[in-house]
Amino acid sequence: MEANVEKKPIVFSAVQPSGLPTIGNYIGALKNWVNMQDEFDCIYAVADLHAITVRQEPAKLRANSMQMMALLLACGIDPDKCVLFMQSHVSAHSELAWLLNTITYIGELSRMTQFKDKSRKHESNINVGLLDYPVLMAADILLYQAEYIPVGKDQTQHLELARDLAERFNNAYSPTFTVPKGYIPKTGGRIMSLQDPMHKMSKSDDANAFIGMLDTPDEIARKIKRAVTDSVGVINYCPEQPGVSNLLDIYAAFGDETPEQAAAAFEGKGYGELKAALTERLVEVLTPIRENCTRYMGDKAYLQSVMKKGEDAAAAMAYRTLAKVRRKMGFI
Ligand code: TYM
Repeated sequence: MEANVEKKPIVFSAVQPSGLPTIGNYIGALKNWVNMQDEFDCIYAVADLHAITVRQEPAKLRANSMQMMALLLACGIDPDKCVLFMQSHVSAHSELAWLLNTITYIGELSRMTQFKDKSRKHESNINVGLLDYPVLMAADILLYQAEYIPVGKDQTQHLELARDLAERFNNAYSPTFTVPKGYIPKTGGRIMSLQDPMHKMSKSDDANAFIGMLDTPDEIARKIKRAVTDSVGVINYCPEQPGVSNLLDIYAAFGDETPEQAAAAFEGKGYGELKAALTERLVEVLTPIRENCTRYMGDKAYLQSVMKKGEDAAAAMAYRTLAKVRRKMGFI
């Protein structure tokens, strides 16, 4: 009799090692990565090929890639439950990206918000990789037949392209790819800058604008104290108070409650109290992560073994899909 083994849906996501991740990365994506490990077959990558669309110093890229691996483990990604690997270790990603390039239109890439933003920020280095970035991201996802993609809101356009390319390829050559769906938190999908709550929190901003995942308790306290609020003086969760609402989003995400519940808990209290409670929560969650990360960083051999195991598992899946694609496109 055939064993009744239920196949779990596949999840894929990745994070760039282009600097220290922020609590925005954590709330928008990494927290879901950890939570999804039991219910889904999860595949997670450090997207080093994406990082080089912005000029990287090689030694720094190597160090940041290692640190990102250590941080993911420290956050609770368990390499015995999921596949964790470096994107550049599985060359199928670059190859599928090339094949998908031939069914992607320049118009749809040049319309991407992130391409426009990054072109503005890196005026002297608007390279083809920056334009092609979403195609590589589609290749990442489609190689693994992933159904759910846990990401923050800023990746919505890129996911849409991955869906379009999957459907376009399936229609042109016959069903090959699973059409993926985003898995974006209802609140916290877009954590805002502490200095300018109308803009996304980003690791490339001024250090006061974000909390890094490895910030010390003193740094956290200082940055939260300086976070921009408003002159209303009352704690509400509403679009008219973006600074305070952002603090409530962060507070809620780090305590597994809704921002509305958090706002209710602070009824009648001042911004100082909210900031103190938020600092306490952040320090409580981030301290063990920072300590674990330091421990993993001290064991390079273990990090290498995790990467190797992940690479082998990822490659087996990726090359199976790539072989299918090559055959369907007419390669001998
Ligand atoms: P990256 O490295 O910029 O960010 C990693 C994840 O963090 C989310 N994020 C945020 N969420 C909420 N608030 C914020 N302020 C915030 N800032 C970042 C991002 O949405 C992302 O989920 N292109 C991707 C990496 C990637 C990828 C993939 C993702 C490469 N291939 C395939 C999914 C599937 C990126 O640049 O993420």
